[in-house]
Amino acid sequence: MQLGTRLSGKVAIVTGAASGIGFETAVLFAREDAKVVCADLNEIGAQATVDKITQLFGRDRAIAVKVDVSKEDQVAALVQRAVATFGKLDIMFNNAGIMHPQDDNALTTEEKVWDLTMDINVKGVWFGCKHAIVAMRKSGGGSIINTASFVALVGAATPQLAYTASKGAVLAMTRELAMVHSRENIRFNSLCPGPIREAIEQANGALFLASDESSFVTGTDFRVDGGLSSAYVVSHQMYGASLMLTHLFHPFLQTAEGDPTGPVPKNFADSV
Ligand SMILES: NC(=O)c1ccc[n+]([C@@H]2O[C@H](COP(=O)([O-])OP(=O)(O)OC[C@H]3O[C@@H](n4cnc5c(N)ncnc54)[C@H](O)[C@@H]3O)[C@@H](O)[C@H]2O)c1
Repeated sequence: MQLGTRLSGKVAIVTGAASGIGFETAVLFAREDAKVVCADLNEIGAQATVDKITQLFGRDRAIAVKVDVSKEDQVAALVQRAVATFGKLDIMFNNAGIMHPQDDNALTTEEKVWDLTMDINVKGVWFGCKHAIVAMRKSGGGSIINTASFVALVGAATPQLAYTASKGAVLAMTRELAMVHSRENIRFNSLCPGPIREAIEQANGALFLASDESSFVTGTDFRVDGGLSSAYVVSHQMYGASLMLTHLFHPFLQTAEGDPTGPVPKNFADSV
């Protein structure tokens, strides 16, 4: 397969690279000529991602590293391994995250579920940023992308409290890091996926943020959600849950202002 050039000369770490967004992004980064460290708790899955990259683009473009992002010593070792193998670090995609099956509402979510979610989704991102900053200072800068979620912008109607709170923390932390480290030429952006339709759509967002095309973009909540977080959706208190779901999935059926199938309103241009 033909290689692109959008990340030529760059070295990237992708966490959560065994699956979903991380897998697609690792392959896309490699396609755009980056050297990629595929990091995941799932070592076999991370190696499978490397094998895919090798099959598509040839050897010596990627390595697999087993990491639990919630353990600082492992994250430090991950960054050291990237630098030892490829000479530097330019891109850190802190993407690994969980939504625990027992994550629920304020009354029913167990503390251990809350803590595990925060350990991986928030502390894991902090550790990734921390050790990437150390490496990027030596290479003159870089781009750090932290995966958040659209639920941190609008709130979820289905309870997943720890997850939503963790992704809100990612947004806030990323903005502050962007300001604190801007003079060091290190950019920080959050990727805010909507419900995943195609993981490649998220990977394309990450690619833009990783590349020099986004050189003046930092501190953003970068939404890749098909406009969902900009949608006018009524709350349960106003209309009831069933209508709210109707709005989410069939936004043209009815709006809070009334039936959109009625006559088109006249505007000024029509009247002159
Ligand atoms: N899927 C969605 O609809 C959606 C929506 C918004 C945001 N997100 C976020 O996008 C990111 C990727 O999600 P995905 O849908 O690709 O999920 P996924 O489950 O397909 O992939 C997540 C990967 O992270 C790895 N992982 C989990 N815990 C880890 C740890 N402690 N250390 C290292 N690796 C670990 C898993 O092994 C897995 O390979 C997550 O941060 C998720 O919260 C997903």
